[in-house]
Amino acid sequence: MTESHHMSGEEFRRHAHALIDWIIDYQEGRVDDLPVLSQVEPGSIRKKLPPSAPENGESFEAMLRDVDEILLPGITHWQSPDFFAFFPANTSYPAILGELLSAGLGIQGMLWATSPACTELETHVLDWLVEMLGLPDTFRSTSAGGGVIQDSASSASLCALIAARERATGDASNRTGVDRPLVAYASSQAHSSIEKAIGIAGIGKENLRLIDVDASFAMRADSLQAQIEADRAEGRTPFFVCATVGTTSSNAIDPVDAIGSICEVEGLWLHVDAAMSGTAAVCPEFRWIHEGIERADSYCVNPHKWMFTNFDCDAFYVADRAALIRSLSILPEYLRNRPTESGAVIDYRDWQVPLGRRFRALKLWFVIRHYGIEGIRYHIRQHIELAQALRGWIEEDERFEVAAPAPLNLVCFRHRGGDDANRSLLDRLNDSGDLYLTHTVLDGRFTLRLCVGQTRTEARHVERAWKTIRQVADEL
Ligand SMILES: Cc1ncc(COP(=O)(O)O)c(C=O)c1O
Repeated sequence: MTESHHMSGEEFRRHAHALIDWIIDYQEGRVDDLPVLSQVEPGSIRKKLPPSAPENGESFEAMLRDVDEILLPGITHWQSPDFFAFFPANTSYPAILGELLSAGLGIQGMLWATSPACTELETHVLDWLVEMLGLPDTFRSTSAGGGVIQDSASSASLCALIAARERATGDASNRTGVDRPLVAYASSQAHSSIEKAIGIAGIGKENLRLIDVDASFAMRADSLQAQIEADRAEGRTPFFVCATVGTTSSNAIDPVDAIGSICEVEGLWLHVDAAMSGTAAVCPEFRWIHEGIERADSYCVNPHKWMFTNFDCDAFYVADRAALIRSLSILPEYLRNRPTESGAVIDYRDWQVPLGRRFRALKLWFVIRHYGIEGIRYHIRQHIELAQALRGWIEEDERFEVAAPAPLNLVCFRHRGGDDANRSLLDRLNDSGDLYLTHTVLDGRFTLRLCVGQTRTEARHVERAWKTIRQVADEL
């Protein structure tokens, strides 16, 4: 008789209760007292781990103890209310429950047939999101387009780029390779994932044109037009433009409408990357960020950044799903099935790079149903108000300057003492463990960025951050 080594249901119940308690204690207490940016040296976590896997199974208590003692010092606390770095990757209890349920169901939704609910819930929730963000009807599944959840904005942009490449080459590149000098465009402030996708899609990084930006760090449509003309004059084939709604460096909003009208005339695919800032459009007063979005061929926003849905969850939309599916679909014999062949279902494996896929829609569904649209709006507005208050305080302090327009929840600023002073300010702030900020370079100058987007960030956290920044500036 073989002995089972599986965890029993009763053990799982006990450990799951303990783990949920652990998560609540972490989120609502412990995280406040830990240094936001992990302070460990490289290699220090591995040094504490046994060199080989255990021969015999261990207790869950031992594992959780090691989480506390070994791993926690090596965690940078993205869920701390004092986390102001990069862009947020916030989460919430309904999202965590959705993630847990997804693991508990343990399904793989590559085809409609491999779990119809996985596909249909995803299609449905992404249609909800179109309405919630005021996106055009062209992105709804009931039109020729539709949405799909990708792991990341990077994957979304890659899929958009591949579909654009196929459209530009009459669906030949997949078969014969890219046979002409295709050229893509994004602003000099676009996210690095665009350059990465250009490399992966075989376009060649030298064929990505980084277009100049104006004083607000937004793409200049006139420079885009001029560059397209210059490329055509040299016999190249312009095919793809990425406009960014909320650049990573400074939250600049590219003029989507003007860029879109160039793309229409020139016959180029327009992808709009609104990874973080797109969430602001849940509030009607911020929908201006999407002006002209109806001209876009594709669009992405990450609920895993600012919509209380834990990583990973990127909502990717196309206006012409046939173009995307044609470029990514492959049907080996072992995946053939009646629903697929009926043409009546969506098989999301054809909308992404991997074959397999998790049930990510569950957590987004839980989040939207828990908060309701009004609940999400309330918290987004609060984040934006807090960032705007900070902008005001910076403007009033003559030692500092605001370095870029702050349309939403990101404030870029610098001490007037120059790059070294700002570098030292940032290091001292982050070494204090009290908060975590990151930097960028704008107009050639070292600039601090403070983004308000954590689930539990309140006025007192932003006030304390500003107080700490001023105190450290006093010591410079
Ligand atoms: C504008 C923008 N696009 C894309 C990305 C990449 O996001 P992801 O990690 O989902 O690939 C980011 C990340 O911060 C971003 O700010």
